[in-house]
Amino acid sequence: MFDLTGHIAFVSGAGQSVGEGIAKVLGRQGAAVIVNDLHGDRAEKVAASILEEGNRAVAAAFDVTDHDATLRGIRAAEAELGGPVDIVVNNAGVAEGRIIKPFRELSPEDWRAPIDLNIFGAMNCIKVVLDGMCDAGWGRIVQISSGSARTGQNINQTMYATGKSGIEGFIRHLAAETGQWGVTANIVALGHQKNLEDKMSADMIDAILKTIPIGRLGDPIEVGAFCAYLASDEAGGITGQTLDFNGGSQTR
Ligand SMILES: NC(=O)c1ccc[n+]([C@@H]2O[C@H](COP(=O)([O-])OP(=O)(O)OC[C@H]3O[C@@H](n4cnc5c(N)ncnc54)[C@H](O)[C@@H]3O)[C@@H](O)[C@H]2O)c1
Repeated sequence: MFDLTGHIAFVSGAGQSVGEGIAKVLGRQGAAVIVNDLHGDRAEKVAASILEEGNRAVAAAFDVTDHDATLRGIRAAEAELGGPVDIVVNNAGVAEGRIIKPFRELSPEDWRAPIDLNIFGAMNCIKVVLDGMCDAGWGRIVQISSGSARTGQNINQTMYATGKSGIEGFIRHLAAETGQWGVTANIVALGHQKNLEDKMSADMIDAILKTIPIGRLGDPIEVGAFCAYLASDEAGGITGQTLDFNGGSQTR
């Protein structure tokens, strides 16, 4: 079950953290993986680790917010792997230089990066491969989002949440359009993940853990396993859904 042999998967922002876990698990399930990242060294490192495990991967460094670069990058990787992408995981969602400030302190220029990445970046990756999926009669789109898309939190992340909410709406409508061609599109809404330990103080992490019933942060390999399921034949009956991966947190 959940065998992805013969499929070609594209994972954006896969050079570290959650995306790295997703790329590795898709590779372990048999997919050939296009490891995208803005930073070439990160993409190369993760692709090399997938190859070391005996699985198939190629690094593809480009900025997903640039449509032409995305088109060129995906076509070049497809040529290298010998076939079209039929699994897309839009994971890149934390813009470089992320600004963490209340909305009152943001200028209109500050609004753009999280929207560009979470909405247009994700749409670029889908657009480049969607016709191929529909023509083939099979495709899987997994959008990584956040619980912050469906709640209101005083965490200085209004624009990030706006980007996530926007792409979730897009994915639901896309799923309704493409189901007739065997292309599913689902959203995985993450709660707090392990890599936050590198970004936050121990006190902040302790406070977060108190809100998570399982008492721990999420693991990239577990997120990867969830994505592998959604990318599989066996998940063909699920589309247009937002699925929480948050250890049971009610605060999202
Ligand atoms: N980590 C968490 O606790 C958490 C919680 C909720 C949601 N998420 C979501 O999970 C996803 C992954 O988060 P993460 O914490 O692993 O992020 P991260 O910042 O650790 O890694 C993301 C990678 O994306 C790359 N990237 C950024 N902009 C890019 C672009 N324009 N084109 C290509 N690559 C780009 C970065 O270089 C980086 O290597 C994001 O969508 C994020 O919103 C994460």
